[in-house]
Amino acid sequence: MRPLTVIGNWKMNGSLAGNAGWVKTVCRGMEQGMPAGRKFAVCVPTPYLAQCGKLIEDCSLAFLSWGAQDASAHVSGAYTGEVAASMLKELGCTYVIVGHSERRQYHHETDEQIAEKALQVLDSGMTPVICVGESADERNSGRATEVVRGQISKQVMVLQDRLADCLIAYEPVWAIGTGKVASAQIAQDMHRAIRLQLAEFDEDVASHVGILYGGSVKPDNAVELFAMPDIDGGLIGGASLDPQDFLSICQA
Ligand code: PGA
Repeated sequence: MRPLTVIGNWKMNGSLAGNAGWVKTVCRGMEQGMPAGRKFAVCVPTPYLAQCGKLIEDCSLAFLSWGAQDASAHVSGAYTGEVAASMLKELGCTYVIVGHSERRQYHHETDEQIAEKALQVLDSGMTPVICVGESADERNSGRATEVVRGQISKQVMVLQDRLADCLIAYEPVWAIGTGKVASAQIAQDMHRAIRLQLAEFDEDVASHVGILYGGSVKPDNAVELFAMPDIDGGLIGGASLDPQDFLSICQA
């Protein structure tokens, strides 16, 4: 049985004062009781990892963990501005998002680089959240599944059975931050396609790997999405900035 996992992605948002309020509200809400067998995390900007990690630890919430939004494909060395996975581990991260569509688009990250990043995250003892998803043009021209298959096959090639220790996030680019959520059926169909593709490689990996949906998840559509058999939770952008919305989605 795969646990339902809900991960917030603050992207480049937050402030020292605002973060403290967010953690306080979410901790209070979670202390009221959360559905059993679920996992929750928030991926904050790197400069806030120490602060948020400490705040979450202080409210001694076993429920909530934290993570980062990217990691270097390199172990260490002369890579100005990059952050090594081992450093994120030292800051207590459990998850690291890799290959988010905004990094693919604005930083030209390739599937090969993303797989290398995922390997670094795994080697440092954390869980990579590997993002895949098609653009609006790719969907409109009927190539959505082909595009996502291509992205997944590169991950399979590099990560092999270590994929069982990863999370995959299906995030159609046209649904990210646009308010245009994929219907639960569209999302389920792609999640199913991804799981079947993984089963071609290894049935065990396919049945273990959690596949999250991301793209305009809100409190009012989370219930329907999470009820789908191949949707194992969500990667939540905009709605995770509001602590009450994040809590509602965690409870969905
Ligand atoms: P969104 O972003 O929920 O704001 O659409 C999701 C994501 O980019 O991870």
